[in-house]
Amino acid sequence: MCGIVGAVGKRNIVSILVNGLLRLEYRGYDSAGLVVVHDGKLNRVRSAGRVAELGEKSANTYGETGIAHTRWATHGIPSERNAHPHMSRDLISVVHNGIIENYEALRTELSAQGYVFTSDTDTEVIAHLIHSHYQSGGTLLAATQAALTRLVGAYAIGVVAANNPHQLIAARKGSPLLLGVGEGEHFVASDMSALLQVTKNVVYLEEGDVVEVNLADYRIFDAKGAEVTRPVHVSELDNDSVELGEYQHYMQKEIHEQPQALANTLEAVCNSQSLVPGIFGADANAIFPQVESILILACGTSHHAGMVARYWLEEIAGIPCTVEIASEYRYRTSVPNPKTLVVTISQSGETADTLAALNHAKDTGHTFTLAICNVPESAIIRQSKLRLLTRAGPEIGVASTKAFTTQLAALFLLTLVLAKLRGRVSAEREQQFLHELRHLPIAVQKVLALEPQIAELSKHFADKHHALFLGRGLHYPIALEGALKLKEISYIHAEAYPAGELKHGPLALVDEDMPVVSVAPNDALLEKLKSNLQEVKARGGELFVFADADTHIRSEEGIHILQMPEHAGFLSPILHTVPLQLLAYYVALQKGTDVDKPRNLAKSVTVE
Ligand code: G6P
Repeated sequence: MCGIVGAVGKRNIVSILVNGLLRLEYRGYDSAGLVVVHDGKLNRVRSAGRVAELGEKSANTYGETGIAHTRWATHGIPSERNAHPHMSRDLISVVHNGIIENYEALRTELSAQGYVFTSDTDTEVIAHLIHSHYQSGGTLLAATQAALTRLVGAYAIGVVAANNPHQLIAARKGSPLLLGVGEGEHFVASDMSALLQVTKNVVYLEEGDVVEVNLADYRIFDAKGAEVTRPVHVSELDNDSVELGEYQHYMQKEIHEQPQALANTLEAVCNSQSLVPGIFGADANAIFPQVESILILACGTSHHAGMVARYWLEEIAGIPCTVEIASEYRYRTSVPNPKTLVVTISQSGETADTLAALNHAKDTGHTFTLAICNVPESAIIRQSKLRLLTRAGPEIGVASTKAFTTQLAALFLLTLVLAKLRGRVSAEREQQFLHELRHLPIAVQKVLALEPQIAELSKHFADKHHALFLGRGLHYPIALEGALKLKEISYIHAEAYPAGELKHGPLALVDEDMPVVSVAPNDALLEKLKSNLQEVKARGGELFVFADADTHIRSEEGIHILQMPEHAGFLSPILHTVPLQLLAYYVALQKGTDVDKPRNLAKSVTVE
């Protein structure tokens, strides 16, 4: 969702802004724009299209201070007039990520003061509010701070003024923003990938922080207005990790990075002889023994990871587990149990609903909180007591792939640690599990070798409008994830059902135009699944079965089998995810969709 880049330097920073926006494209956007301060004027360039177009339009623009933005429409249609930056009387310009909830009241008030609105956005009120304070004297910092006290909602903003060269003001509350520290130049951005071109030194801004960014220095003020010092971190990301390399799309690259991402996530445990609570943080030793149940909160793909974990936690650790969609939980009256461990799962650590659900859980009295997240220093990590970082590396493709499988690996570790504490895993079984975890990257690599066969299978889907995914038990959430991948990037309507539910409705849909994809591991439910498949076949449905080698399901008329290299027991959902990701990818390729940036979707959903 909306991306922000800002720079104050002693050189033309237009290309830094544009390159930064290119790096943020993955977040999802529909229009882009930038403004630079030059010769006492604001020069604004906007485009209702891609960042590349903005780059062309701004090729001859010069400025040493500026802000830039990719917009994901919330208030007002995607169009050039609604694209950021927004201006107030050619003096103030603002970019914004988030939603200002009281913008209508502010708009009425500012209109009464004579401000003319030229867009339908909530953001424009911020520009006029800052202008109304700035015009009466004082600094841009003071005017911004005064304006912020009037805003209700979530924001990350960047602000510049025409008569104030070499300075920008930025602030965040509820939406991500970080500060890049250079030598004699400074930057702000929504995430670090935008700034790797200029610096690796980063300051993660806290909730409510306002920062005055100058050429030689910067000053940070906390939510109460007190000047504060925040640590400068050296980012572990490198430019290569956000390059496409030999791949055609980020999604394909990220699918192929899964063996390494899993190896990185499991590194600490795979090199040790036993599993200890400490991998979740120092407080885990005190908290875990008290835990009576688990509540998992997440959105989208991360929610599917939670659904798999529920099977593991209940079966292996014997601990009751509930999994809830964060956007539902946050508005529901629920009954808290202080002995419940609240687990949030998020690739980005920024998802507004997941963050709000975490805070809602805390408000209702939960104190045991654990985040499983791919972004260090993200809001969800910082607001949780315990954490385990998935070390998948930056995920650029909007459709989540390597984040999901690493979340599963992390959740399996959580299961094993809790199971051990509850005396449900013998030392011998623990060693066996550790062995299986160490083998996981190799097992995934073998599944990736099936890519040509999956590309071939995908040809059966390109002209279809619907698809049904079936799974049972641990693999029902994998069927859900497979269906989500297909709909996200190929725009084919796909639904997933637990196979046992087939005859309670979806069987009515089955005919030769409705391909049925089935996840068929060799587990206790295999025989039941085979009967479900016969039910589909008897109705003329075409089946695509992702089967373990020893399931003895044979290819025949109307049944296409993709044989998986091995059966991974409890870890099987991780292996079975991979061919479904590849299937969605190859179907999307044939349909010619924008694989990495599917229409209407955003990578980090930082607004409700
Ligand atoms: C968006 C993304 C999904 C992701 C979901 C949750 O919808 O497009 O890929 O699964 O948000 O994101 P999170 O960062 O919290 O895992």
